[in-house]
Amino acid sequence: MSETKISTAKESRRGFFGSFSAWLAAAVGAVIGVGPVCVGLYTFIMEPLRKKQMPRKERDGGSSDPGFFRVASVDEIATDVPRRFTIVADKLDAWNFMKDQALGAVYLQKNEAGDISCYHTTCPHAGCSVAYEQDSNAYHCPCHNSSFNLDGSKLENGGSTNPSPRPLDTLEIKVDEATNTVFVKYEDYYTGRHDKVAK
Ligand code: FES
Repeated sequence: MSETKISTAKESRRGFFGSFSAWLAAAVGAVIGVGPVCVGLYTFIMEPLRKKQMPRKERDGGSSDPGFFRVASVDEIATDVPRRFTIVADKLDAWNFMKDQALGAVYLQKNEAGDISCYHTTCPHAGCSVAYEQDSNAYHCPCHNSSFNLDGSKLENGGSTNPSPRPLDTLEIKVDEATNTVFVKYEDYYTGRHDKVAK
């Protein structure tokens, strides 16, 4: 083999390894360069979600107690039948501020002594809404026929099994005597459990 052929083969190998090294360096450079960009993008997108806030718990001019929502005037609450009230508050999610959103609903009723009871409208069985029915003077859930007495206890209808695992969920209230206003500590609870656990 002549010297010219040997040197050509060496140059060809050098050329191949030279190109490969260049490609490898370019690939490593790209990964190193793109990495921070990906991290930045991920942080930009995920950070607001990570910081996601729960709906604001206080209404304008509302209670100074965290978690309490202004719901009604004491005068709006009846003694003969429960009345349904919607909990309204401002919501703040990752990117949007939404004013006056409905968070849920409660039933309020006064007894003769003026004491106020408060029940969540969500059925503890699987989360449908219960409604007060005047005919039976009880709460009824249309989804799987759970019924509840006005004190929230489970009502067995003519021997049929009430599928709700627990009574209606009660909610804590506070009355501001100065303004005659009722505030409710509104929370949602897990359904399908015997115990009452806030979400
Ligand atoms: S969700 Fe109310 S009875 Fe099933």
